[in-house]
Amino acid sequence: MFNIKALETELLARIARAEDLDSLEQIRIFALGKKGRITTAMSNLAGMNMNTRKKTGKALNSLKCLVKNALVARKIALSSAILNNRIVADRVDISLPAPPEMKGRIHPITQTTDEIVTIFAEMGFVVVEGPDIESDYYNFEALNFTPDHPARQDQDTLYLKPDKNGKRKVLRTHTSPVQIRTMEKQSPPIRIIVPGRTFRSDHDATHSPMFHQLEGLVVDKVSHMGHLKGCLIDFCHAFFSIKDLPLRFRPSYFPFTEPSAELDIGCLRIGTEVKIGDYGNWLEILGCGMVHPNVLHNSGINPNKYQGFAFGIGIERVSMLKYGIPDLRPFYESNLRWMRHYGFLSFAQPTIAGGV
Ligand code: PHE
Repeated sequence: MFNIKALETELLARIARAEDLDSLEQIRIFALGKKGRITTAMSNLAGMNMNTRKKTGKALNSLKCLVKNALVARKIALSSAILNNRIVADRVDISLPAPPEMKGRIHPITQTTDEIVTIFAEMGFVVVEGPDIESDYYNFEALNFTPDHPARQDQDTLYLKPDKNGKRKVLRTHTSPVQIRTMEKQSPPIRIIVPGRTFRSDHDATHSPMFHQLEGLVVDKVSHMGHLKGCLIDFCHAFFSIKDLPLRFRPSYFPFTEPSAELDIGCLRIGTEVKIGDYGNWLEILGCGMVHPNVLHNSGINPNKYQGFAFGIGIERVSMLKYGIPDLRPFYESNLRWMRHYGFLSFAQPTIAGGV
């Protein structure tokens, strides 16, 4: 008859000393496994007389219970120690300074302008700029608006205070005055684009008193309406990258082009959302036409020798369409949350190869 008490003391001591789950499992096998000490002792009961069997059986059963409980308790203790160690090791050091946050974003107007410029640059256009404050001559007169021309009123002009001679400067209502400024300085062939700020006294969800246009002008001996259409269709395909984009040239009127047209993009309007590329509605994105002979003449270019075409794209319009921006007003509200949502990372530089 072996000493049950001594086995109990040994097992409990070994369980208490177990340092990890593996050694605890070894002890379990040593005590309770198929050939374990308690298991073997229990199978030896069969050969004992009734009395000893009863006494020893009871003692072995309580030892088995005791050891099982001790194993479970130690297992729980070891597991929570492991978890605690991991928590301590993985602790976030909140005293460390946070990694720097990218605060700035490229504004959608800047990004869209860069994209348009990239596409026309690829076609051989050169970027030119002009002043925001214009004379009546460049904004209207040289562009074939007569003094009483109704189109002057159409443009809701913002005027500055008149000078000593009673002449009023205007905040340019379009980028077209830069056509004249360029043709005065440069002789054909001319192929320019003019991104810039423009101003009209107009304010609602789709109009702002300050907005952006991109003017285009081509003057040479051969460019005709077919070139105008091809150039703008190619532009739209590159800019929107939508296959089978529905496009429509609709006859229109501008004093400085003849014939004149507006280009509409097919889209589907559902509530405030506009989905481009679908049929249902048309949205105007630009005005265009063949440069009026009077405009060439006013700029010192012989209309009998030269001809060409011009266009003016509404930058906000195409930006809202391309990037699904429903309202124009937040463009100018300097709201950082809006910028983080609609703005671009500085790495997103548009390129022809990388996609605009
Ligand atoms: N300047 C015109 C506008 O602001 C657009 C345009 C530009 C039309 C060039 C024809 C040619 O609406």
